[in-house]
Amino acid sequence: MQHKITVVGAGNVGATAAQRIVEKELADVVIVDILEGVPFGKALDLAEAAPIERHDAGIDGANDYAATRDSEVVIITAGIPRKPGMSRDDLLTTNAKIMKTVVGQVVKYSPQAVLIIVSNPLDAMCHVAFEASGFPKNRILGMAGVLDSARFRTFIARELNVSVENTHAFVLGGHGDTMVPLPRFSSVAGIPITELLDPAAIERLVKRTRDGGAEIVSLLKTGSAYYAPASAAVEMAEAVIKDKKKILPCAAYLNGEYGIHDLFIGVPVKLGKGGIEQVIEIKLTSEEDAALKKSAEAVQGLVEAMKKLDI
Ligand code: NAI
Ligand code: 2OP
Repeated sequence: MQHKITVVGAGNVGATAAQRIVEKELADVVIVDILEGVPFGKALDLAEAAPIERHDAGIDGANDYAATRDSEVVIITAGIPRKPGMSRDDLLTTNAKIMKTVVGQVVKYSPQAVLIIVSNPLDAMCHVAFEASGFPKNRILGMAGVLDSARFRTFIARELNVSVENTHAFVLGGHGDTMVPLPRFSSVAGIPITELLDPAAIERLVKRTRDGGAEIVSLLKTGSAYYAPASAAVEMAEAVIKDKKKILPCAAYLNGEYGIHDLFIGVPVKLGKGGIEQVIEIKLTSEEDAALKKSAEAVQGLVEAMKKLDI
């Protein structure tokens, strides 16, 4: 392939993302994990599916980052997922240490890469990656809004019995209980859902979207969602690899946009070859703005907690 993507973490999200990338023939993939054997086994298994799935993308496993050299995109899923009863924030200390180590290795071999962060708590992990990499802010993207919007789209499509392809949705803010689904900017075939559903139904779908991660955790019991998260990370990687200039909700470092400073939080951005090429500022109502600010405070709280722990 012409392109190369590294996926760090050969667990549920990482292996599924690798599968989606090679099956789309987006790039050759290297899967890295600290576990002995596992990244090699998953890569070999995926390679052996290639003749049946009819693709020629290369896929290798690794424990050593030398194999990741010159990756254009690095998707970081390394870390622990939550279990029932845990919030994403409970993962902070463990995953921050993992993120710091991983990013230190990644940047040595791929100093020009765009990093797509997946590990939770997402917005806080973007901060760790930003500081550990020394990369410019446009090359650190957090995956959450694409997933949360896809959940909202799924629930809208089911409610109205229409194709998911007709739906569009935006979810802003941090990837947590304070996320901000925006019904005004969510539509079916261009028609705002506020014209199609009554306020009670919209509120029900918004709540289900906010609780979407926990709903899957409570069903799986041993881990968290991975099919949709992998799809979301790969949509972002594809926008970068193909220089698509695609507008997607991603965690981005804000420096005054939306009145928020020095913080990663989910906003619409234009994704292309350079990573984030533009933060799209939309005019929010005072209610939406207050919800975004409340979400920013929650993320800021985690960033402060990491400072206190000296991570
Ligand atoms: P998993 O447990 O299946 O996989 C995690 C993998 O990371 C394991 O294979 C583990 O060995 C590996 N790992 C741990 N430390 C490492 C290190 N230092 N270097 C390399 N690899 C290392 O977990 P899963 O389900 O794949 O989730 C991964 C992370 O992504 C979790 O933190 C989870 O909360 C988060 N997540 C975030 C989402 C989002 O919307 N941002 C959605 C879904 C998951
Ligand atoms: C999710 O929303 C666990 O953050 C992950 O499914």
